[in-house]
Amino acid sequence: MIGIIGGSGLYSGLEELGGEERIVRTRFGDMKVLLGENFVFLSRHGNPPVPPHMVKYHANIEVFKNLKIEKVVAISSVGSLVKEVKPGEILVPDDLLDFTGRVWTYHNDKPVHVNLYEPFCPSLREEIKNIGGMKIGGIYATTKGPQFETRAEANMLRMLGAKVVGMTVAPEARLAREMELCYQPICPVVNYVDGNTTHENTIEMVKKMEEKIADIVMRLIQSNGV
Ligand code: HPA
Repeated sequence: MIGIIGGSGLYSGLEELGGEERIVRTRFGDMKVLLGENFVFLSRHGNPPVPPHMVKYHANIEVFKNLKIEKVVAISSVGSLVKEVKPGEILVPDDLLDFTGRVWTYHNDKPVHVNLYEPFCPSLREEIKNIGGMKIGGIYATTKGPQFETRAEANMLRMLGAKVVGMTVAPEARLAREMELCYQPICPVVNYVDGNTTHENTIEMVKKMEEKIADIVMRLIQSNGV
């Protein structure tokens, strides 16, 4: 059994998976998921979609905990900060920078400090690596968005060694670790971070990559059969 968090636009590519719509209760609200024999699919942004800073991250992650699903892959589109990672490719990051400037935790009434030194799940990353066709490793930087980065911000992130930048992974990784989930993002690279990036051309690239992503997700589901 595997959990999948889908980014905006991915849902259509996965329709052929089947599964039934279910409502899952969480302390943060009722969430709609697609429940299959071997998987649970959750749309990160919901329908109609909310922007990255309004995503119900606490509810999203608690869904998997409540369903007792330990392994979660998250499809998260990114912009590339480096020449060698090209739009159209898929990067599976192995480290994280958080510039959201917000506190992400389930623990507001007592001090709880989980270890985040290895922010993603190495064993799940290994499984993904075995599927092939993806670049493995690299730092994912999370910005608060919703605007894309300034030139100076992009240069700062490059100087810190980040390969890609997106707006959603840090909250998920932090909350998933608190819930003791094995969480690993898979990142479709939809643009270079430069002056040509627009919302429209990133969406266009997400659409172009949908089939490729659906294929990877399908393989992961198969290899995690009941
Ligand atoms: N910056 C931040 N988030 C993104 C980008 C980007 O260039 N592309 C897709 N998500």
